[in-house]
Amino acid sequence: MARKQNSSRDDREKPNFWLFSISFLFIRFNLLPFYFTRFLRETYTFSSAREIFLWRLNIYTFVILLRFEFFKRSNGGSSIKILGLVGSPSVNGNTAKLVNAILDGAAENGAEKVIYNLASLNIKGCDACFRCRESGCCAIDDDMQELYQEIQAADTIVLGSPVYMWQMTAQTKLLIDRLTAFLKPDFSSRLDNKKLILVFSQGSSDRDAFKPYFEYTAGLLYYLGFDVLETVIVAGTDNLEVSFRPKLLEKARELGKLVSGSPLSGSEFRKEESSLIPLL
Ligand SMILES: Cc1cc2nc3c(=O)[nH]c(=O)nc-3n(C[C@H](O)[C@H](O)[C@H](O)COP(=O)(O)O)c2cc1C
Repeated sequence: MARKQNSSRDDREKPNFWLFSISFLFIRFNLLPFYFTRFLRETYTFSSAREIFLWRLNIYTFVILLRFEFFKRSNGGSSIKILGLVGSPSVNGNTAKLVNAILDGAAENGAEKVIYNLASLNIKGCDACFRCRESGCCAIDDDMQELYQEIQAADTIVLGSPVYMWQMTAQTKLLIDRLTAFLKPDFSSRLDNKKLILVFSQGSSDRDAFKPYFEYTAGLLYYLGFDVLETVIVAGTDNLEVSFRPKLLEKARELGKLVSGSPLSGSEFRKEESSLIPLL
């Protein structure tokens, strides 16, 4: 079973969920004004009918405001799902902090966030059986099965890796190889232009040092059927770790907000809003 971190899907376990549901039932069936007025009548002696009327008015205004809040939540709320995949063995390292910051920004916009650390999962290498070509399903029974579902369910994916030996980490590459299951026999993709943000962190302070490799990787992800919105590169972590760069983390949060709030497709997003995307 894959190990999921920071999931906000377990809302039922939080007391807020039940508070919200019970309040909803009360409001839905107008029970709140009824019980509250009865309570007031039993507790206080009202001097005039006008006083009772004003109390009722207050309660109804309150209920209308609450209903408006429910309406807002159900319509503009958390319909977007954002999935973070971190390919670093450092569970709380530079890459994880960046991916988390992007996810947090999206969550501020009401998105549902889920994050996995690839190094903590059991992901085997592709064994080239090619059974996925026809069926679309990988035959290897490991944690990748859960990730296939998460990827299909997500609107946006944030894939992060540190640079190891001029490339992505081995853990990230295991995932990439297994994404071949999303290709049909004619090598077209089974994915419907799923949005993706690519995140790289590197020790070297030369931000252009691996640029061709990052572009090449973004190209591969396009080929697999992802719509790569942006490649975020954080350089110089050998000198200064991400946790000591609050402005950078803030920019990452802003990017998460921007992506989750935008109804635009990937190509439109790049065309219309690329000037707003921070260069990290
Ligand atoms: C085995 C290994 C190889 C690395 N290779 C490179 C490299 O080729 N270029 C580079 O700039 N940094 C390299 N680094 C540094 C990492 O990319 C850098 O520290 C990164 O921010 C680590 O991210 P993390 O904290 O998420 O693991 C390497 C680090 C390790 C452990």
